[in-house]
Amino acid sequence: MARYLVTGCAGFIGSWIADTLLRQGVSVCGLDNFETGRRENIAAVEAAAAASGAEFRLFEADLRDADAVARAVRDTSRHGAELEVIFHQGALPSVPRSILDPRTSHTANIDGTFNLLEAARAHGVRRVVYAASSSAYGNQPGFPRVETMVPMPIAPYPVQKLMGEHYMRSYWQVYGLETVALRYFNIFGPRQVPDSPYSGVMARWTLQMMQGKQPTIFGDGEQGRDFTFVGNAVSANLLAASAPAERVAGRVFNVACGQRHTLNRTFQVLAELLAFKEPALYTAERTGDIQNSLADISAARAAFGYEPAISFEEGLRQTVAWYQQQYGDVAAAAGATRP
Ligand code: UD1
Repeated sequence: MARYLVTGCAGFIGSWIADTLLRQGVSVCGLDNFETGRRENIAAVEAAAAASGAEFRLFEADLRDADAVARAVRDTSRHGAELEVIFHQGALPSVPRSILDPRTSHTANIDGTFNLLEAARAHGVRRVVYAASSSAYGNQPGFPRVETMVPMPIAPYPVQKLMGEHYMRSYWQVYGLETVALRYFNIFGPRQVPDSPYSGVMARWTLQMMQGKQPTIFGDGEQGRDFTFVGNAVSANLLAASAPAERVAGRVFNVACGQRHTLNRTFQVLAELLAFKEPALYTAERTGDIQNSLADISAARAAFGYEPAISFEEGLRQTVAWYQQQYGDVAAAAGATRP
């Protein structure tokens, strides 16, 4: 049986990758330090394991701790069959967090990725699939974004994520470790943390609307994002993990839907789904933001058959339904205390 390790396994995207593999009956190990990951996501992953009978093992470790990362990779390899693929989702995300505290996200994202690659090299791992960021394109002209464009990152976070891409390519070219970088475009969906100051906009607005709070739009709201449902990102990861090396190794791919939605429009769609009647509050643009994002996804299509099977609208419906189920009590309590 193939063996997989998911870093950031208690996080939003990592937990869905682990969950999906386990439901397919494939055993998985996970690594997380719970800095931003959540115990309830691990409970969901464990439930997926119990449902299929596949095995799940968690290593509680920080990517910045090279020895602990090496031990996790070594123990995953020894734990039954050889470790074949690492899905490297673990990171300290968020553009604004990296602006406020660049050193902390630098060590998690750059040192952490380096530690992971070193451990993978030492233990003969076949492939690493890496969570890269579309924010690497920056604000240069030219849409849709194509992987051949020269990256122009603005904030520390995209710089760090881009450094990870370079390391991935280097480890393929120099050491023959098969690496694939997937540039995510604003992934949203169930399990995205809605109540942190660094939450993604979709999760944040959903919870705010459920609580009857007016969401804030930074800038005029005409900035756009290629919002992508998490299920599409999971399928891109699994396809990239199993594609022939000659098609994917050492390469970078956009993972998106290929559609741009403005924040103003996104606000309207969410407000309709949640029957939220109040307008958004507008405030100043957020420092370090990119203005627009829209992807060309033909490279991922051609290399490993990626298709964004779940549309923006369907993804939003599933997302809202999940938050209503998980956070219904919080929302009801907020409603009860409002005058
Ligand atoms: C997001 C991801 C980042 C990823 C990148 C590319 C998060 C937290 N960040 O960055 O990890 O690498 O996409 O895939 O998921 N906004 C508001 N009001 C709010 C919150 C945000 O107007 O209350 C605006 C922001 O100013 C921005 C847009 O919404 O213009 C998206 O912001 P955000 O969800 O934080 O994501 P990105 O910065 O695009």
